[in-house]
Amino acid sequence: MAKIDKKAFPFSKQWLDDRLALTTVMKVLNTEYWIPKNINFLWAMGMVLAATFGVLVISGIFLLMYYVPTVEGAFDSVNYTIMTEVGYGWLWRHIHGIGASLVFLIIYIHLFTGIYYGSYKRGREMIWISGMLLFVLFSAEAFSGYMLPWGQMSYWAGMVITNLFSGGSLEAYSFVEWIRGDYVPAQAFLGRFFMLHVFLLPLIIIATIVFHFATLRLPHVNNQEGKEVDFDESARLWKEGTVESRKKSEVIPFSPVFLSKDIFVMGVYFILFFYLVFYNFDFAMDPVNFDPADGLKTPAHIYPEWYFLWSYEILRPFSKDVGLIAFAVAQVALFALPFIDRSPNVAPASKRGLFKYWFWTLLVIMIALTALGKLPPTDPVFAAMGLVFAVAFLLMGPALYIITKFEKKIEEGA
Ligand code: HEM
Repeated sequence: MAKIDKKAFPFSKQWLDDRLALTTVMKVLNTEYWIPKNINFLWAMGMVLAATFGVLVISGIFLLMYYVPTVEGAFDSVNYTIMTEVGYGWLWRHIHGIGASLVFLIIYIHLFTGIYYGSYKRGREMIWISGMLLFVLFSAEAFSGYMLPWGQMSYWAGMVITNLFSGGSLEAYSFVEWIRGDYVPAQAFLGRFFMLHVFLLPLIIIATIVFHFATLRLPHVNNQEGKEVDFDESARLWKEGTVESRKKSEVIPFSPVFLSKDIFVMGVYFILFFYLVFYNFDFAMDPVNFDPADGLKTPAHIYPEWYFLWSYEILRPFSKDVGLIAFAVAQVALFALPFIDRSPNVAPASKRGLFKYWFWTLLVIMIALTALGKLPPTDPVFAAMGLVFAVAFLLMGPALYIITKFEKKIEEGA
């Protein structure tokens, strides 16, 4: 065992250091975790996401105190008990609803920032893969949460999405009934989605966030130019402590220097957040979900929340089996991005020839799919457009492979 200071006062800094190596932990995670100087506000989105997740957990705990997870009690516990009878229950619900919507807005900004700057390459593949895992986990968390108020959209979105698993060969094993625990969404269905939403998924999400942070530690975050920073040399210059050496250094410590910038961006973000909570709560709520679930009354038009619309629109134009495969391919394609992109360049899209057009095309396709996903499937023109954009999305993977295979190497300093 290492030498310890036997005279140290219990729970003093020295006493804790001897037992938990707190000073070393603080150095590794904060004061000597080096961040490149050359990054903009988009690099604060990761911490904004972590903070939003924290707000979702806290508001969720308050909602959980009065929520009743039964098909008879759920709707009233949310819409009457929490909204009208519990002091500030409406506030926690608004915070939770807005948080669930904004977390996806920020995830998409964070994800597209990574694609734009090529932050998924050159040693950063595990950051990307753990990020995509978080995307899938947040999707499952949002979907399971949407079931809980047991309104019309909860019920019918649950019906439509679980129906996907009744396609083709899967039907032979009654897979959909196995998932629902019944022939239709009912008590077993609500109970298991409740357990997933309040217990299992949050636990896995927390572990995956820790893993995502761990994957960042060695390769460090990328920068606006995709420059390969010599972190050891720059850290040495920073630690030298003179004005001159700190100017020369290409890095700053995460805490307190970069963290102060993160906190400023978070401040601006939370002003928008609470503006929506107090004045525009409708932004996060579908009016149809204010009707209690009724298995005998199918809504005229069933659609998911805005953040699922693009993938819903990839499913919709195809038959059930093909749609499910198209959807799965779309998800895997994003996971596989670091391996499909064959270019050696880590640089902003604006400097990467055809990749620049690929990036903006991808963004336009996803926005178009999102807009089309909200429309009823009855209009043949929109249905045809949906098919075109879904096929275009699926072709973006092979297109990326071909474009990046022939991308010219950018010389250092160009
Ligand atoms: C939802 C929970 C998430 C949290 C809490 C989170 C947190 C963070 C943090 C704190 C950083 C470092 C600072 C920054 O670049 O913003 C980061 C970086 C990164 N994240 Fe996430 N992230 C999440 C989801 C995702 C998703 C969905 C992706 C996409 C696949 C992703 C991909 C990345 C990448 C590629 C980087 C490295 C950026 C760079 O090197 O410049 N993350 N994340």
